[in-house]
Amino acid sequence: MYGKPADTIVHQRDPLNAEPPRAALAGAPVTPLERFYVRNHGPVPEATRPLRVDGLVREPLELSLADLRALPRRELTATLQCAGNRRVDLLRVRDIPGEAPWGAGATGTATWAGASLADVLAAAGVDPAARHVGLTGADHAEEADPPQRYEISIPLAKARRPEVLLAWEMNGEPLTPVHGAPLRAVVPGYIGARSVKWLERVELLAEPSEGYYQATAYRLLPEDGTPAPGAGIPLGEVALNSDFLSAVVAGGSVELEGYAFAGGERRVARVEVSADGGRHWTAAELLEDQGPWAWRTWRAALPLAPGRHELYVRAWDSAGATQPECPATVWNPKGYANSAWGRIEVDVLRRFA
Ligand code: MTE
Repeated sequence: MYGKPADTIVHQRDPLNAEPPRAALAGAPVTPLERFYVRNHGPVPEATRPLRVDGLVREPLELSLADLRALPRRELTATLQCAGNRRVDLLRVRDIPGEAPWGAGATGTATWAGASLADVLAAAGVDPAARHVGLTGADHAEEADPPQRYEISIPLAKARRPEVLLAWEMNGEPLTPVHGAPLRAVVPGYIGARSVKWLERVELLAEPSEGYYQATAYRLLPEDGTPAPGAGIPLGEVALNSDFLSAVVAGGSVELEGYAFAGGERRVARVEVSADGGRHWTAAELLEDQGPWAWRTWRAALPLAPGRHELYVRAWDSAGATQPECPATVWNPKGYANSAWGRIEVDVLRRFA
């Protein structure tokens, strides 16, 4: 299982789709490699070709890993979050056939190193008609009809930002096959789907990619919508969300840990927890600030009487926005972007003298 521990929650074996139990993410601002979730639409490819940069460019390029390594090295800590993260709470509202019940662990934070996509685009020379950048992986996915390679795009304005990397390193180690070796895109602030693994092609386009994952999948449909090319809102920036990672009952109180992720260029400004269904909120302590592209881990303690409790967490972002209360308000047919309050149940045992 590509080095993932035995307690990993496997949603699908082939291709591998798996996440860590939420408690395994607690206490680690940077996620250990073996704990990082895996989201694959097709089998891990055995080989990849050198990177081709073409489309609306002055000079098409073919770049080996050595060519990329000759560019200025960039390093940053960024959170990847799958659009299906926390889908399990949407499934409790209404069934979502054919989609995996991802919990709170389809997200993780790594320190990535590589070249900046902007440097590669500058070397190729971008035609003024280009507006989008298509990213294609070496893997073949069967979900599309007809089956096609994994391809998606990002706006050119984002592609030119210094935080968008072509990465060959994750947490100081060479990228592993299941996470996209030898080369992957890392698009901080955007849903994980845009961070294309096994990257083989960067294509400058006038319009967004017509590939299945851009045009049909990863779109937020209305409640009664069905997937079709161009239907729904294309998911780009991650929506503000937060969740619990661990809850430890000690004496008359519970020690809580979790994460909050603002997405886009917003920052997490505040995290709060509630033990009374959201009528009163207690501020959590925000832990290490790892820069604009990483989640904010947090901890809080709440005094609790003996019995069973439902606890909630919500974050606020730098735009003053907060999360919707319940999954029913954000339910959608593909089960994406659950940004509702995080929820956990804890039992505080009664003490007998
Ligand atoms: N890139 C390719 N080539 N094929 C894929 O199936 N999955 C995407 C993205 N990049 C995918 C891909 C999705 S949906 C997510 S959430 C992230 O990779 C997951 O990255 P990880 O498996 O390294 O955690």
